[in-house]
Amino acid sequence: MAILITGIGELTTNDEALGTITGAAVVFDGPTIAWVGPAAAAPDADERVDVGGRAALPGWVDSHTHLVFAGDRTAEFEARMAGQPYSAGGIAVTVAATRAATDAELSANLRRHVAEAARQGTTCLETKTGYGLTVADEARSARIAASVADEVTFLGAHLVPPGADAESYVDLVCGEMLDAVAGSVRWADVFCETGAFDEAQSERVLRAAARRGLGLRVHGNQLGAGPGVRLAVRLGAASVDHCAHLSELDVEALAASGTVATLLPACDLSTRQPLAPARRLLDVGATVALATNANPGSSYTTSMAFCVATAVLQMGLSVEEAVRAATLGGARALRRDDVGVLRPGARADLQVLDAPSRTHLAYRPGVPLTWRVWRRGSPVA
Ligand code: NIG
Repeated sequence: MAILITGIGELTTNDEALGTITGAAVVFDGPTIAWVGPAAAAPDADERVDVGGRAALPGWVDSHTHLVFAGDRTAEFEARMAGQPYSAGGIAVTVAATRAATDAELSANLRRHVAEAARQGTTCLETKTGYGLTVADEARSARIAASVADEVTFLGAHLVPPGADAESYVDLVCGEMLDAVAGSVRWADVFCETGAFDEAQSERVLRAAARRGLGLRVHGNQLGAGPGVRLAVRLGAASVDHCAHLSELDVEALAASGTVATLLPACDLSTRQPLAPARRLLDVGATVALATNANPGSSYTTSMAFCVATAVLQMGLSVEEAVRAATLGGARALRRDDVGVLRPGARADLQVLDAPSRTHLAYRPGVPLTWRVWRRGSPVA
């Protein structure tokens, strides 16, 4: 069935030829976009929805979340706001709660957060394992994630479980654990940071994953300077995420690479880290993505709009650049060309704002502007 969405006051397509269209329409053919252009030239369809001059854009592509978890870390957040530093060790609290949860509890929690994100315009979402850290717990996290999320990443190398020997744990991740999750995941990731995994350990994990045909991602340069960005670029990772502490060499390496710098401003704020140098990265030609990093420890939000507003108000991006990073940038970080863009053949993922232009995302920060969302051509409730 063809649906015509018309009366779009301002349409951000992210397509080079189509650009931003004033007075636009989009036609969905089932789960796919069939036509995009000026409303006056739109073809007939079975159903017609007039959005009354509101702005529309691709659904958000949230390329970094950790939503297979149980438990709560409110107390840790309160302590942090009172001056305690964030440390990788907090992950162990969520690991204990996640291991103790049933499959049904983990699945319900994941679905609840994904639905929360979708109501706010997120139509493509990646999520990770990483709160199981045993073969059985990582395998079930991967299975549960694969039943809900668009993209799933194996993050067995999130933290050395308390009491374990780091080298033996890396052996387990590279062997039995990878074997157990490989059928459910497309990506592998490693937390390359002081307190988590060093460069050599991270490289071992990533090379083992690559041998099994998984795409690579890296958590790097989150809490301090380090080798994460360099490693990600050297191994051709799709994305290096966080990037709060970059040297000029890191910035230049990213600009010269096909690795996307995925910035997580809600996490930077919640952990009292400096905001990642988004402006500098764009100025030198790096590809930038914005994502929520939704997780119960360092960044408990599913709001891509918050990340976009922060990128504009505090990181020096224009609204156009921030919206692009939160849609097309996320798609590039996931090496997808069917999302984050509105053109014939792309996925029919569209959000309409209760506002006349995308500028209102930063002009009216904190206001829930999502008015309607379609994912794969179907309305999101
Ligand atoms: O991306 N950096 C590592 N992992 C998460 C933190 C998870 C947690 O604190 O539970 C992150 O910030």
